[in-house]
Amino acid sequence: MAIASVRLLAVVLLKENTLRSRCVFCCREDGEVVTVAAKFTNHPSNFQFQYGTGDFLCQIPVGCEPRYAGLLSGDGLDLTNFTFLPVLNQDAPERSRLPLNFTLCMSIMFGDYNNVLQFVQAMELYRLLGIQRAIIYKTSCSAAMETVLQYYTSKVGFLQVLPWPIDSHLKPSSNWLPSLSPGDIHYYGQIPAINDCVYRNMHRSRYVLLHDPDEVIMPTGNITFKTLMSDLEKAHGEKVNFYFSNNVFPYEEKEENSRYDLPEWEHLPGHSFLLHVLREEDKSGYKSGKMVVDPRSVLQMSVHKVKHFAKGRTETIGPELGRLYHVRRRKNSNLKREDLVRDEGLLKVAQALVERVNHALSHMGLLLNATTRPNDPH
Ligand SMILES: *[C@@H]1O[C@H](CO)[C@@H](O)[C@H](O)[C@H]1NC(C)=O
Ligand SMILES: *[C@@H]1O[C@H](CO)[C@@H](O)[C@H](O)[C@H]1NC(C)=O
Ligand SMILES: *[C@@H]1O[C@H](CO)[C@@H](O)[C@H](O)[C@H]1NC(C)=O
Ligand SMILES: *[C@@H]1O[C@H](CO)[C@@H](O)[C@H](O)[C@H]1NC(C)=O
Repeated sequence: MAIASVRLLAVVLLKENTLRSRCVFCCREDGEVVTVAAKFTNHPSNFQFQYGTGDFLCQIPVGCEPRYAGLLSGDGLDLTNFTFLPVLNQDAPERSRLPLNFTLCMSIMFGDYNNVLQFVQAMELYRLLGIQRAIIYKTSCSAAMETVLQYYTSKVGFLQVLPWPIDSHLKPSSNWLPSLSPGDIHYYGQIPAINDCVYRNMHRSRYVLLHDPDEVIMPTGNITFKTLMSDLEKAHGEKVNFYFSNNVFPYEEKEENSRYDLPEWEHLPGHSFLLHVLREEDKSGYKSGKMVVDPRSVLQMSVHKVKHFAKGRTETIGPELGRLYHVRRRKNSNLKREDLVRDEGLLKVAQALVERVNHALSHMGLLLNATTRPNDPH
């Protein structure tokens, strides 16, 4: 069946008049273009910033089969330097024929990101769990991180890095409100990136996980992530999204004398998932957990929840089934060490993870132990 309309995701100046916005369709190979009035819908999660995420919806004219589309904001039809985007999602395979089951969308890598050890551990954790593909939107990172990204994109083929040069266009905020960090747009433009990723994977992946590389969803007990997801699907049906509550394990509380404090990782910048096992109990009720979504059920996505469904609903998953482990700086500074709860859930996979991380690091030339380097000439 031919598609009936095209949705253009955009970063918009919210006070701008969008009434005269039009889509430009490239209808045929000969370059004929047609313009159509666009219907604008704001995203609800723009957090008082001047710029935010918006959708422009355009009906496709009869007889037009556009492969490319773009957006005009005024009355003119000057197509010099005009950006045409490929129209994605024209083929919608049946659910059972989707090429992937689990894709992870991580949002923005920014500020010369250099958390090398935790990122490599994250990639290996995700692969260990059965996630088949990861995507990250990159604004900037360190030279060492560049080596890591190269390895996972070119050598392993697990990661896709999408350039996200938002700072060449806007002044992005580093927080979620303008009062906390002034800027043009919420947190490095995370909301448009998340929505972009959901739409890109709509007809590629059965599920899309939406969290950052300092987070991982771990099933409780001795089951795999795949088994957990298939149990959840059996219990709740298709077109259901799953919310996993956030559990912060502060960097500030580091294990002493841990068997996972490895000498061969000492020189690497960044934190270790395996050295932080004290959990903040979040009693605030604030919902900062992350989602696993069926992308076909989503119209508009925010960081922690689906804002607008195409069709479907969200189920909250409790700690008896699984948790989001979020190893980061302390979130609740009122809590003292004795208020934290010991939780070694991540250590279940520690042995396998250490082996995989060392294997990856040795291939990247980032492991110092000469004895563990298979390609070492000596
Ligand atoms: C098109 O882009 C070129 C190169 O960036 C620039 O020099 C030129 O002024 C642009 N033309 C228009 C009409 O914007
Ligand atoms: C996705 O999961 C289904 C059911 O668990 C399985 O039959 C199928 O082979 C999986 N597809 C991929 C690409 O992993
Ligand atoms: C976990 O499950 C696997 C496979 O189902 C089994 O081989 C293993 O012994 C189990 N481990 C524990 C600690 O129960
Ligand atoms: C790395 O070297 C240290 C010190 O020589 C050693 O204790 C450790 O077991 C080595 N690690 C591996 C993975 O071989």
